[in-house]
Parts: sequence; structure tokens; C-alpha cells
Amino acid sequence: MTPPNPRGPHRPGKGKPTGQGKPAGKGKASGPGKAKRPTAGTTRPSQPTAVPQWPDRPTVDVHDPDGVRLQKLLAAAGVGSRRVCENLITQGRVEVDGQVVTELGVRIKATQNVHVDGIRIQLDESRVYLAFNKPLGVVTSMSDELGRVDIGDFVANRKERLFHVGRLDADTEGLLILTNDGELAHRLQHPRYGVLKTYLAQIQGQVPRDLGRRLREGIMLEDGPVKVDSFRVVDSAPGKALVEVVLHEGRKHIVRRMLAEAGHPVLTLVRTKVGPIHLGDTKPGKWRNLTNTEVGLLYKAAEL
Ligand code: URA
Repeated sequence: MTPPNPRGPHRPGKGKPTGQGKPAGKGKASGPGKAKRPTAGTTRPSQPTAVPQWPDRPTVDVHDPDGVRLQKLLAAAGVGSRRVCENLITQGRVEVDGQVVTELGVRIKATQNVHVDGIRIQLDESRVYLAFNKPLGVVTSMSDELGRVDIGDFVANRKERLFHVGRLDADTEGLLILTNDGELAHRLQHPRYGVLKTYLAQIQGQVPRDLGRRLREGIMLEDGPVKVDSFRVVDSAPGKALVEVVLHEGRKHIVRRMLAEAGHPVLTLVRTKVGPIHLGDTKPGKWRNLTNTEVGLLYKAAEL
């Protein structure tokens, strides 16, 4: 059985990381305090973007007090070429503040709520939404007080002030959403919105038939019960198994604690999905821009 990403490019305590995107000189030898951030072009190759760049994608001043033509705003947001956006409008697929707009040329402001096919479109280009694959050994912090390798080291060359949506343990790899949209980040972490997270865990022991049922019914932990929304065995080998668990819990070490309590300590843990966002083939230490649709789906998950 081969677990996906069994080990990322960096192992905690294994000295200088080998993968791209890792800061040089920020390890045990660097002493107290924060080591120098890596500079662009030295350790990180350029990042791919998932937002299509249309040949006639206009740049607009979204804060123009007179507003901007709807089709131009949509094209600037990367929904499609201006012609495609005009067609979307005339086909009645665009709503502004809950009203379908079929006329071309309507001027609107970026503060207004625009949906295409029911998906909210973020019109403010200064908003950034990234799917980051946190490598093993990296602390979930934008600026770790103890000078350990953290997420901030991977995005040091970005000008926005980014927040991480939730946390992963240093020894967990996988998807972390990074954004400068504070309200969305806050809501996605709030238990009220119950955003689902999907993990692949390599666990010790043979999986008994009733494990899924027990996890769905709930496991009692010292700080209260936890239950999964779904569970499946992906693969198994003598003495270990690869399982997928989906839950909307955000408590510390929740997957490890739950599976250990159920009798199957976690050997490796990877988060593959947050709400509607998949990690995909983004490599550890790399990020990709979320598409407009993905951002819209996150808005929906956060009831925004
Ligand atoms: N649960 C854990 O145990 N660890 C993580 O990093 C995330 C969820």
C-alpha cells in the first residue's frame, strides 16, 4: 500500500529541507530569532495560476465612484472574455444584488453582490485566495515566534497580508487556504458554518468491520465527543490501512486523537479537501490561485 505523499520534501528535525520553497538557513543552526525570509527567485519557482488570462481581460478601477460596466467588471474578474460576459448577461445568467440583469451597459460598483449561475463573483482584484499545500514540518503560522519554518516563509514575496484558514499540525501535510479576505477566513473556521474537511490517514492495524460505524456514531474524547461525516477504507496492507475521514470538526489534533482513541494511531496524515476545494496535484510547498468558481463555492459554504 502506498499512501499519497507519504513524506513531503521536508521532514521535521531532518536538517535542511530539500524541497523547493524552503528557506535556506532557517533550521537548527540558525539560532534564536527569525531567520531571513527567502527572496523571490532563489528558492521558490514561480507559482502557477488557475485564473485564466483572457486576451482582452481589462483592468478596471473597481472603486470608480461612477461604477463600471457590468460586462467589463466580469471580464476583469476573469469570468471570461468581454463577449462571453455579454452573452452571460443577455442569457439572464447574471444577478446583481439578487436581481437578474439582462441589459448590457449597466454600471455597478464592486461593493455590489454579483452572481453568475448562482456563484458569487469576487470583483475586488485585490482579494487573494490560494490553495497551499503545507509540507511536513512546517508550522501553521504566518510568523512563528520561535523562528521555526512557517507558512509565512513560503509567501514572503507576496505583498498581501494573508491569513491561514484553520490550522494543520506540523506533522500533517496538505491543503490550507490562504487569503486576505478576513471575513471569509473567519467564517470558514466558525463551527456554525460546519465546513467539511477531508483527510487521508495512514493508520496502524487492520480495520475492523465496525470502525466506520463507530466513528459515525461518535468517539468520546476528553474534551467531548467527535463524529465523522463519512469514513471509507481506501487501501489496506498487513498491519496498516489508508482511510479517508471527512468531518466538520476543527479541534486541535482531532483526527489523530479520534483514531488513536478508536485503537488505530495515525502514522501519516494529509488534508486533501476543505469544503469544495481540492488539494489536487499542488505539490508540497506550492500554492495555486483558486478559480472564480472555487471562490464562489467558498462564499456559498460560508453563507456570504
Ligand atoms: N486533525 C489532526 O489531528 N491534525 C491536523 O493537522 C488536522 C486535523
